Amino acid sequence: MKGLFITFEGTEGCGKSTQVAILAERIRAQGRVVRALREPGGTPIGEEIRHTLKHSKDNAEMTPEAELLLMNASRAQLVREVIRPALAAGEVVVCDRFYDSTTAYQGYGRQMDLGTVQRIIEVAVAGTRPDLTLLLRVSPEVSWERLRARQAAMPVVRDRFEEADRGFFDRVARGYEAIAVAEPGRVKVVDGARPVDAVAAEIWSIVQPLLEDQR
Ligand code: TMP
Repeated sequence: MKGLFITFEGTEGCGKSTQVAILAERIRAQGRVVRALREPGGTPIGEEIRHTLKHSKDNAEMTPEAELLLMNASRAQLVREVIRPALAAGEVVVCDRFYDSTTAYQGYGRQMDLGTVQRIIEVAVAGTRPDLTLLLRVSPEVSWERLRARQAAMPVVRDRFEEADRGFFDRVARGYEAIAVAEPGRVKVVDGARPVDAVAAEIWSIVQPLLEDQR
C-alpha cells in the first residue's frame, strides 16, 4: 500500500487542530496506520525548536531570517526522521501545518522575498510534497476573535506569533489565498467558519476517495 501525505493549513483559530484529530480517527477506523504530526515540532529536536520559536521568554528579538531557518530546520528533521519512513511504510501522514505555512507567514506575513523562502523550503523538504492540502478558511475577523478569546483563556502562556499585529495576520490570510489559486490541484479550500461536524464532513468527502483509490 502506498503512503498518503495530507497537510492542514490556515490562520490562527481556523480549527485545524480539531479537524486533524477527527480526520486521523476516521482514517484509523478504515484500518490504516495514521501518523498525526504538527509543525514546528513532531520530533524531539523539532519540539525544542518549537519552544524557541513560540514560547521561550528570550525570543522577542528573533529576526525574520532566524525564524525562517528555524522553521525549516524543524521541517528538515521531521521529513527525514518521520515523514519519509512513514510514507515508505504505507502509512497516512496527517500534518498540522507544513511548508505553505512558511510561504504564508514568513513570505507574506513577514514580507520576506518569496524566491528566497522557496529555496529554503526546498532545502528542508527536498521534494517531499503533500498529496493533499486542506486549507481551512475563516475570515480575518473570525480568526482574530478566536485568537483573542484563546489568549483571554490562557493569559500566562506566551506565544510570540500570537503577539503579532492585525496587519500581519491579514497578510498571512492573503498569502494562503494566493497559494490556493496557484495550486488548485493540491490545495482544497474548506470553509472553516461552519460547525465542526459540517467541516469534518466536507473534509471526509475529499479524503475518502483518495483512500479508496489506494485500495
Ligand atoms: P500552531 O501550532 O498553534 O499553529 O502554531 C504554530 C505557529 O507557527 C503559528 O503561529 C504559525 C507559525 N508558523 C510559521 O510562521 N511558519 C511555519 O513554517 C510554520 C510551520 C508555523
